[in-house]
Amino acid sequence: MTGLFITFEGGDGSGKSTQAELLASWLSEGGHTVVRSREPGGTDLGLELRKIVLHRRGHIAPRAEALIYAADRAHNIATKVRPAVERGEIVIQDRYLDSSVAYQGAGRVLDPDEVGNISLWATEGFMPDLTILLDLDESIGRERLDEARTTYDRLEAEKSDFHARVRQGYLALAAADPGRFLVLSATDSIGSLSAAIRTRVAELLPA
Ligand code: TYD
Repeated sequence: MTGLFITFEGGDGSGKSTQAELLASWLSEGGHTVVRSREPGGTDLGLELRKIVLHRRGHIAPRAEALIYAADRAHNIATKVRPAVERGEIVIQDRYLDSSVAYQGAGRVLDPDEVGNISLWATEGFMPDLTILLDLDESIGRERLDEARTTYDRLEAEKSDFHARVRQGYLALAAADPGRFLVLSATDSIGSLSAAIRTRVAELLPA
């Protein structure tokens, strides 16, 4: 039996982690073995790469940045996610290759298709069974972040037109692959979002 790989995507402040946690608890209570991961930083090596890519002072060349995310991803998939799915477990992960296409593609320096292909090489084409996109107007995401804290990582500090391009990048990915994506409006209530997510995930669970 193979398990499931479910990813959450969305802009900063879209509530991904909250929904990922709620889904993980629901599935665990239903008797499933759930593994949580995130990118960047789902593994020990990934935590080191996360510090570099999000918090290192000073410029990182765009191609170097894209490769650090891809290196984190390669290790996370090879050592954690793929083995768990092969054991029949359900992996719920905050962010995956769609984040690279949307964010690194939004900088206008890198070609989104090339960024996507680097991740496909890194993961030997390992794709999620389901990707939940919490779509949010970038100005609302920013307000939510501003309420939550006063320091920002490298990407959070980008200007709002960057985040608008990230959002459009995500919507284009979802439109191109409607079978994989569930797109929800992140401004819906926590309860109605989690209900919609459960309904969709239930369709993927073995009877
Ligand atoms: P994350 O830890 O999910 O933070 P948040 O809770 O703010 O969503 O992600 C950290 C940042 O990393 C986020 O701003 C998006 C960025 N990122 C990329 O630019 N490319 C990637 O491939 C990934 C996985 C993340």
